[in-house]
Amino acid sequence: MRVIEVRGLRKSFRVGAEPLPVLAGVDLAAGRGEFVSLIGPSGCGKSTLFNVLVGLEPLDAGEVRLNGEAAPGKRELFAYMPQQDLLFPWRRVIDNITLGLEVQGMSRRRARERVRPLLPTFGLEGFEHAYPFELSGGMRQRAALLRTVVQERPVLLLDEPFGALDSLTRTTMQRWLEQLWERFRWTALLITHDVREAIFLSDRVYVLSPRPAHVRAWLEVPIPRPRALAVMATPPFLEIERQVRALLDQGAVGPRENDRDADEWEPVSAGDGPGEDARHG
Ligand SMILES: Nc1ncnc2c1ncn2[C@@H]1O[C@H](COP(=O)(O)OP(=O)(O)OP(=O)(O)O)[C@@H](O)[C@H]1O
Ligand SMILES: [Mg+2]
Repeated sequence: MRVIEVRGLRKSFRVGAEPLPVLAGVDLAAGRGEFVSLIGPSGCGKSTLFNVLVGLEPLDAGEVRLNGEAAPGKRELFAYMPQQDLLFPWRRVIDNITLGLEVQGMSRRRARERVRPLLPTFGLEGFEHAYPFELSGGMRQRAALLRTVVQERPVLLLDEPFGALDSLTRTTMQRWLEQLWERFRWTALLITHDVREAIFLSDRVYVLSPRPAHVRAWLEVPIPRPRALAVMATPPFLEIERQVRALLDQGAVGPRENDRDADEWEPVSAGDGPGEDARHG
């Protein structure tokens, strides 16, 4: 079963008297334990899509299904790391990380118990009592990510988690996230501008059109895991990269134009990893 399935999602904003169409019928899906990326031009509507999924913005039309059930805007099913994910400067690192759990009603003590064992994995051990300004940019992003993933929601939404990092730190974080995902196998949707990041991390990449966004095409990434950074120089990777860039640059029909309806997708049975069963390209 698909953990998340989005069909025909439409959304306009009203700017002055004029409607501003932002999402023009977005279709996408992710099976259990799949890592899926969304890539598209700046301003096309990617963050809006996530905001609609979690119910921060109402949708105009379309359907969101989680585990087969209609679930428009069921915020409690998503762990969301927004594009501007700020740590509160007046809270210590540990208290920033436990915030999401505390908001859910967990006591601070229990929340800390849940978070503590994960600090080494997130490279934050020894910094739990520091304040955010005492951390590097990469550490802050890892803290924000830990705050998001400890909530153990069915779907993880990451909006440009590494957008603000320098390229060296970003590469380190990409490799780290790939290893982390290998271990935890979250169902994850990632928004990124970085074509190589999208391919490196994902089982499938959705390429969005300029605003109003629709899915122009999707590409499977049948590159075995675990993935080392060296895969980025291999012919299969470079070919996928070429196709994604062509779709983004030309703004025209690509080699894998998405002309199939979501109905035709093969089902993904519970417990499947992102193996061949999960593929529908
Ligand atoms: N609350 C809002 N009210 C009115 N217009 C909005 C609102 N939020 C977003 N928009 C508009 O919707 C469009 C899409 O914005 P969105 O933030 O979703 O783009 P994006 O794809 O995430 O861009 P980026 O890659 O730069 O983050 C933009 O034209 C933006 O101005
Ligand atoms: Mg955005």
